Amino acid sequence: MSTEKITTQKVNFKVFRFNADEDYLPYYEDYSMEVTSEEVVLDILNRIKWDHDGSFSYRRSCRHGICGACAIKVNGRSTLACKESMDDMVDLFGSDLVIEPLSIKRAVKDMIIDKGDFWEKHDAVKPYLEAEIDENPEMENLVSPADADALDEADLCIQCGACHYACPVVEINEDFFGPAAFAAAYRFEADVRDDSDSRLKTVNEMGQGVWDCVKCFECAEACPKEINPIDKITKLHQMAFQKGIAQNNVATRHAVGFVKSIKKNGVLDEGGLVLYSEGPSIVKHIPVALKMFSKGKIVPPWGITKSENLDEIQKLVKSSSTAKF
Ligand code: FES
Repeated sequence: MSTEKITTQKVNFKVFRFNADEDYLPYYEDYSMEVTSEEVVLDILNRIKWDHDGSFSYRRSCRHGICGACAIKVNGRSTLACKESMDDMVDLFGSDLVIEPLSIKRAVKDMIIDKGDFWEKHDAVKPYLEAEIDENPEMENLVSPADADALDEADLCIQCGACHYACPVVEINEDFFGPAAFAAAYRFEADVRDDSDSRLKTVNEMGQGVWDCVKCFECAEACPKEINPIDKITKLHQMAFQKGIAQNNVATRHAVGFVKSIKKNGVLDEGGLVLYSEGPSIVKHIPVALKMFSKGKIVPPWGITKSENLDEIQKLVKSSSTAKF
């Protein structure tokens, strides 16, 4: 039995309210409650509904961080309501908390959003095994522990959408598949039983695929299962190079230029990297580059000081490279 003392504290909640059938604009409702150290955010949603307003709407099912239904935002941070303790929320943000759905522009009713775009993109990456299956096998298709490890926990995704709606690219590019779809794509690309010849090509396409990720790491921060979708995106980049399907574009040249710069200097030549990635369209960056030069933010290629440990770094680059450019 836990001997930890249960404490209570007063917390003020500002809760997003909207009913797409009735309201022209959303509004926020204030609730103040005594919250105990034993409660999670989902308990607060329940109390708002049960004690204050029966029309308050939100999704939940398992209450154990498994179904992914209860993802919302607290003070702008994606949160699985049934997993996040109120104590941690107050430690992080203080006693004034704003509760909102994962995506305000997709709100249907209070915390409930239309996740149609999420599921369409999930579907587009074929999140299932594609393999020639013997319909009458003599034994199971065994996967070794090492091959199972290669999935790298991508199979733990509960499709809550927390990473998808935390991604800034999803907000501005409606074609971009988003981090959850990429994690699902990786999960099946890394499966030794899968022999899809289209999934990797689909996620390699510019405009919708992994090369449009801006590497902000918001998805890694948001994921309540610590799957680290950006790591899976990077692995899909590597697979595209390894399988020779990465096309010559600004994003792939950025990856190649990064490695070349480190190999040459042991440090990143940022000006040279932009030149390598952009090619002739570098011209459009000249005004910004001049400003950066004048502020000492970038140095010309001839001004780069090579690392003292260049030999060591070059050996590391060689031993860790898995892709040919
Ligand atoms: Fe299922 Fe929260 S209710 S994950």
